[in-house]
Amino acid sequence: MHQLSTDPDFHYELVRIMDYSPYEGSDISEVLVAAQSILPGDYESFHAAFASLANRTHARALAVNATRHPVSARNAFFKAASYYRSADFFLHGNWSDPRIDSFWSQALRTYDAALDLMTSPGRREVLTSKDGSFRIPTVFYQAQPSNQNPQEDAHKPTPLPTLLLCNGYDGSQEEMYHAFGHAALQRGINVFTFEGPGQPTVRREQNLGFIPDWERVVEPVLDHLASLPSVAQDKVGILGYSFGGYLVPRAAAKLPGRMAAVMAVDGLMDFGRSILEGFPNETLALFRSGKREEFDAQLTRAVAEQGSLSTSARWALQQGLWSFNTLSPFDFVTRAQAYNLTGVAGEIDVPVFVGDAPDDTFFPGQARELAEAVGGEATYHRYDAVDGTGLHCSAGASVLQNQVVLDWFEDVVGA
Ligand SMILES: *[C@@H]1O[C@H](CO)[C@@H](O)[C@H](O)[C@H]1NC(C)=O
Ligand SMILES: *[C@@H]1O[C@H](CO)[C@@H](O)[C@H](O)[C@H]1NC(C)=O
Ligand SMILES: *[C@@H]1O[C@H](CO)[C@@H](O)[C@H](O)[C@H]1NC(C)=O
Ligand SMILES: *[C@@H]1O[C@H](CO)[C@@H](O)[C@H](O)[C@H]1NC(C)=O
Ligand SMILES: *[C@@H]1O[C@H](CO)[C@@H](O)[C@H](O)[C@H]1NC(C)=O
Repeated sequence: MHQLSTDPDFHYELVRIMDYSPYEGSDISEVLVAAQSILPGDYESFHAAFASLANRTHARALAVNATRHPVSARNAFFKAASYYRSADFFLHGNWSDPRIDSFWSQALRTYDAALDLMTSPGRREVLTSKDGSFRIPTVFYQAQPSNQNPQEDAHKPTPLPTLLLCNGYDGSQEEMYHAFGHAALQRGINVFTFEGPGQPTVRREQNLGFIPDWERVVEPVLDHLASLPSVAQDKVGILGYSFGGYLVPRAAAKLPGRMAAVMAVDGLMDFGRSILEGFPNETLALFRSGKREEFDAQLTRAVAEQGSLSTSARWALQQGLWSFNTLSPFDFVTRAQAYNLTGVAGEIDVPVFVGDAPDDTFFPGQARELAEAVGGEATYHRYDAVDGTGLHCSAGASVLQNQVVLDWFEDVVGA
């Protein structure tokens, strides 16, 4: 694939933003112009390029008369929101950086302006976990039935298949609208997005890091869906993106009979192992022998020194500390060991789609393992790099990705 930066991680993140261009989330050339001023490995230059693009796009959105041109205003607000999120992406190394909150609130504000301008506006609602220990922000996007019979009572909603969308390690529920939601609505599938502890808005507003028992997030969401007349209760599926490829199968295994289909894009079996595999032997030895202080000192030093880690490793550690809500790398790596589907994946009692991208640099080999552990319920789908679907989560090929995943879902639930 042609590279947009000599830094492979920046290339990946730029492709990821362009991935949403068919679904109202970006414009390709806006991202390419931003990319031109980004220096490989320089997080501040990445931030500056997208801060400037977000600012211009936001100003353009505000300049549109939204009463007269609601679609144009919505498109510009959605894109501004994407670019504000991109401006935030590499900032999590310094928790005192005020831009972590300021850019996020701009992202949410512009996103909400776009939601209000949808033909059938997306609706936000905050749910509460069963034990009351955290709140779950959600958005419900109600689909229009594709073959509505005009004789039918217009006040009685037609129950439709519904897709729950769960992002991963670093992405938001808003991103999920562009990645899969818009494509699902085009097919007459309702969309319900949510975030749990560790994910961007919950981390910021409730100061909570990731939890491995993700059924605590999904169960209240399913209970809530059960009260919605526009949801066909026997046609509820759940899709997990990236690290969501662990979170969602975990929840499905612990909530038997509650959903009709599970999609892991891509599959992730043992997150802790993938973190350990990223360390050199000497660092790993410190961890294994429980040398917390030496381990923390070594990694904290490596992260601070520009150039001593790859962009991807540095970001993964900074983002891991922030999203697991700890300043100690030792704590982060210790907690990561609990995110393991060994002995759990086989409990899933419904069909599971497991995607596997051949050039995935984050979790190589893990998707196949998950499919094998799921067993007979698994549909293992290995993407092909020649189709442009080779990158982690097939970034950059969202139209083809949605064809594969949503056709599978429709076939499973008989939609
Ligand atoms: C863009 O940046 C300029 C200069 O900082 C600021 O005055 C303006 O309000 C910003 N526009 C938006 C839409 O935030
Ligand atoms: C925006 O468009 C509406 C509908 O065409 C019109 O009534 C209104 O005057 C316009 N507002 C401005 C500020 O031009
Ligand atoms: C972190 O950000 C704060 C606020 O901008 C700043 O004062 C501080 O110097 C930064 N720390 C580091 C290590 O860059
Ligand atoms: C995941 O669980 C399996 C089975 O208990 C174990 O062999 C493996 O080491 C675990 N992975 C991690 C990273 O602890
Ligand atoms: C790291 O350890 C593994 C397994 O113990 C060994 O196969 C490998 O050669 C070591 N790598 C280096 C760079 O020492």
